Amino acid sequence: MIQTVAWITSLIFMVLIGIVFGWVALNSTKKEDYQPIIKKWYKVRKVYGIALVALMVIVTIYTLRDLPYNEPVYSAGVEPIIVDAEVLQFSWNISQTEFEVGDSVEFRVTTADVTHGFGLYDPDMELIAQTQAMPEYTNNVYITFDEPGSYEILCLEYCGLGHHLMIATLEVK
Ligand code: CUA
Repeated sequence: MIQTVAWITSLIFMVLIGIVFGWVALNSTKKEDYQPIIKKWYKVRKVYGIALVALMVIVTIYTLRDLPYNEPVYSAGVEPIIVDAEVLQFSWNISQTEFEVGDSVEFRVTTADVTHGFGLYDPDMELIAQTQAMPEYTNNVYITFDEPGSYEILCLEYCGLGHHLMIATLEVK
């Protein structure tokens, strides 16, 4: 869903930029008195600039409301299942791989060798949670499984020749 929105938005902006470039190219040979045009577009630029700053402020306030992002996603009082996810080139050592729908899980992610990326994908292969697996650090990832199916953990950071082999499967019933 997010990917679809992202690429449609990108496409719209690419078309808009294309239209602006085309318009400029088509009008570039026209001879006109320059001063009124400069005045007019300085005004447009000012309005555009102010609108952009206002939009950025609104978007910033709106998106920062959720900080910090890595808060547990389950309600207070719920005891999560603690799952250790330890990496060793090139496999995941996950302490529990079978869950039930509605289970709240806290993954504790670390690695014994180099940095890896912990990416949790839902049954539709959409990324639903991710963090880095770092040596000597434990990063926590919280998730509630609300759909049955096979979830996959893939490595999201190139870590050596066996990087592509780093796939673990979780079953949610
Ligand atoms: Cu581990 Cu890439």
